[in-house]
Amino acid sequence: MTSEEIRSKFLEFFKKRGHAIIPSASLIPENDPSVLFNTAGMQPLVPYLLGAKHPAGVRIVDVQKCVRTGDIDDIGDNRHLTFFEMLGNWSLGDYFKKEAIDWSFDFLTSKEEGLGLDPNKFYVTIFKGENGIPRDEESIKIWQEVFAKHNIVAEVAGTDEKVTGNVRIIPLGVNDNFWIAGNTGPCGGDTEIFYDTKADTETGKPEGNFTELVDSFRLFEVWNNVFMEFNKTVDGKYEKLAKQNVDTGMGLERIAVVVNNKDNVFDTDIFAEILAKIHTNVTKKTNDVSDRKAERVIADHVRAAVFMIADGVYPSNTDRGYVLRRLIRRAVRYSDILGLSDTLLVELADVVINKFGKTYSNLIDNRDEIKNALSGEAEKFRRTLKDGLKHFEKIIKDQPKTISGTDAFNLFQSYGFPIEITLELAKEKNILVETKSFDEELKKHQDLSRVGAEKKFKGGLGDTSEKTIQYHTATHLLNAALRQVLGEHVMQKGSNITPDRLRFDFSHGEKMTDEQKQRVEDLINGWIKAKLPVEYKEFPKDEAEKIALHSFNEKYADIVKVCSIGAEDNFISREFCGGPHVKNTSELSGHFKIQKEEAVSAGVRRIKAILL
Ligand code: ALA
Repeated sequence: MTSEEIRSKFLEFFKKRGHAIIPSASLIPENDPSVLFNTAGMQPLVPYLLGAKHPAGVRIVDVQKCVRTGDIDDIGDNRHLTFFEMLGNWSLGDYFKKEAIDWSFDFLTSKEEGLGLDPNKFYVTIFKGENGIPRDEESIKIWQEVFAKHNIVAEVAGTDEKVTGNVRIIPLGVNDNFWIAGNTGPCGGDTEIFYDTKADTETGKPEGNFTELVDSFRLFEVWNNVFMEFNKTVDGKYEKLAKQNVDTGMGLERIAVVVNNKDNVFDTDIFAEILAKIHTNVTKKTNDVSDRKAERVIADHVRAAVFMIADGVYPSNTDRGYVLRRLIRRAVRYSDILGLSDTLLVELADVVINKFGKTYSNLIDNRDEIKNALSGEAEKFRRTLKDGLKHFEKIIKDQPKTISGTDAFNLFQSYGFPIEITLELAKEKNILVETKSFDEELKKHQDLSRVGAEKKFKGGLGDTSEKTIQYHTATHLLNAALRQVLGEHVMQKGSNITPDRLRFDFSHGEKMTDEQKQRVEDLINGWIKAKLPVEYKEFPKDEAEKIALHSFNEKYADIVKVCSIGAEDNFISREFCGGPHVKNTSELSGHFKIQKEEAVSAGVRRIKAILL
């Protein structure tokens, strides 16, 4: 079964059960301006999990593009990826544990409507209760009934977490079976579904400690059903949500492994073409294991980079751009190790675009932009890579045991070596790198946002603080003011918000004059003083497209939310946006001030602004 078939089977299965199909949101989070990328299907839906009404209804199904960079060193093993797609069905205050569990097992096992997997091969975990939240007895009962329907006795493991005899249900603690993205927000206990990958080749059932069975890949996690019933606040309290939600996540790449009886994500149709292309072009061989890892890293990173660029990320030294830069530079380095030609990376982008463009049409729409950004960054890096490697050799000749923070920083600053490239080179030669003093050097030399990117590189959901919400509304005001002052050609090209400032990229061909900047500030400060209401309304997509600003790169659901600022008949801003926003512009505390206006790329300008 191809990944395309799995995607559509999943959507159809839940559509038949009353779920509205919604398109993937951009990789760049809109509802949580303080995080770099969507790392889970739930992120774009956070406002709805917290109680806002979703225009598509209370049952939703989607396939969400995600990026996780925390496990970057593990890429190349059998299951870690930077970019992945997450299949999810959602109950927003509608059904809860019973339906969620029943349907997930039906989808996995039904021959007619689902994937037709053998029910005997499944094991599940549930939340054992911790932090004042009790054990999930209800899920245990539901699972026992589900297994019983298939004539399977399902016993619950003891505190030794041992799988033996008829044990099918393993209770685990907060670290394993309580889901929260980041530190705050909607959360709850979960139940995870595991597949016995060796049932056909090993005699007997899996036996032993559950975690060890997972680590040895005998049991493979395929699906997580989260029962979101709490909101964790900044002071660490779990408040009961007004409504109980279900958030599920099944990695498309992982389920493709299971359905096709493979033992790793790279052997699925998802990577078949790109890996074949890489493999046939290898001219330098070292050993099978490291060559295979290099091939997989390139395939993973190019795929992730293609999706990021299509969603509007450009390589740079800050935030998302920096994550993208690291991925491309790593891909270049591994390409060189395998002796791939300089132009191959761009050809690989075409392979990715052709495979996934059928599902994500913005890859096709932005084909040239994607290839230009990739080749531009790769070229830039190659120019310095040679000199950098020479410099690296010189450093280790003088200091064969450790690379000082200053040297590592110098490699970064002068030769464009992201720290993990230095770390990897050093590891190959058994040399230590003083990362702590590297960080100190970095802090001394770089502005705060770069350091922020270092931290955020690990992924996770930031806090939607009051100030970031204010900056989000201010960003809409800025967009409107720029269009008034500079003209209607101004379109949003990117946005990034921290609690300290907003950053806005927009299409405009030349530097803004001081007078233009002043007019933009005056307009915005006038709107803040005018106490304008900020309101959302739902519209059918076609209608909304006629009246509100939106990105042409993105697919939207049939019903969309439009955020208007100002009076109904005299609004100053109207954009597709789910929020969060302040309710009135008077809540923007401070005076709007443009701190910087500069070019980011040809035809794109960037403004950094604060509310002071
Ligand atoms: N949010 C859950 C996860 O990503 C489903 O695992």
